[in-house]
Amino acid sequence: MSIPIVRTVAELRKAVAEWRKQDLKVAVVPTMGALHEGHLSLVRAALDRADRVIVTLFVNPKQFNSAADLAAYPRTEHEDAAKLAPLGAHMLYAPFASEMYPEGFATTVSVAGVSEGLCGAYRPGHFDGVATVVAKLFLQTGADLAFFGEKDFQQLHVVRRIARDLDIPIEIVACPTVREEDSLAMSSRNVRLSASERQVAPRLAAILSMRPSASPGARRST
Ligand code: PAJ
Repeated sequence: MSIPIVRTVAELRKAVAEWRKQDLKVAVVPTMGALHEGHLSLVRAALDRADRVIVTLFVNPKQFNSAADLAAYPRTEHEDAAKLAPLGAHMLYAPFASEMYPEGFATTVSVAGVSEGLCGAYRPGHFDGVATVVAKLFLQTGADLAFFGEKDFQQLHVVRRIARDLDIPIEIVACPTVREEDSLAMSSRNVRLSASERQVAPRLAAILSMRPSASPGARRST
C-alpha cells in the first residue's frame, strides 16, 4: 500500500479537478511532516468528513526564526508516507521549495491582532510565514475543509482569520490536542527536550488546567 506523492501545483490541480468532476468533497491537512499521532488524528478526522484527503508536507522556511532551527527540523518524508498510506489518505502533497517560493516571490500575508502577543511576541515574523504558506495551500488545493490542531491555538485563530478576511471558501475544522500518557502534548520538537526538561514539561498541562480554588490564596472568604 502506498500514497501518491505530488510535487507541483499543476499536478495537484489536475488531481483535484478530477475529484471535483465526480462531485467529491476534498479536505486538506497542512503539516511540516515528522508525523506523530497528533497529525494522524487530524487525518482520521478529515477522512471522516471528506471523500478525498490531501496531506501537505512542507517545512516552510518563512515561519522559522533562525536558520539553525530550520536546519534542525526533522525531515522524514519516507516514514511519513508509510504512516499515511494505511490510514487511506489519498495524496501527499510535498512541493519543492522552488514551487512554493519561486524566484521573485514577493507577497506576504500578515494577520493583525490575533498574530500579536502569546507566541507571536516571541517569534517575530513567524505568523506572517504561517499565514503566507497556509493561504497558498488553501488556494493551491481548493479544498472544502482544512483540519488544524488546537495544540497550536493561536495558529488556529490566525488561519480562521485568513479564510474569513480573504473570502477563501474553506471550512476550518479544529481538532483536540493528542497527548502522551503523562499528558505532554505530542510534538515533533519534544525530542529536543533534555531528560530533566522532559520530566518537567508535562506539569505545564496540569498547571494550565488547575482551577483557581486549588491555590489557598485564591479562596474566597465568603
Ligand atoms: P505542524 O507542526 O507539522 O503541525 C501540523 C498540524 O498538526 C497543525 O494543525 C498542528 O496544530 C497539528 N498538531 C501537531 N501536534 C498535535 C497534537 N499533539 N494534537 C493535535 N494536533 C496536533 O503547524 C504546522 O505544522 C505549520 O505551522 C503549518 C500549519 C503546516 C504551516 O506550515
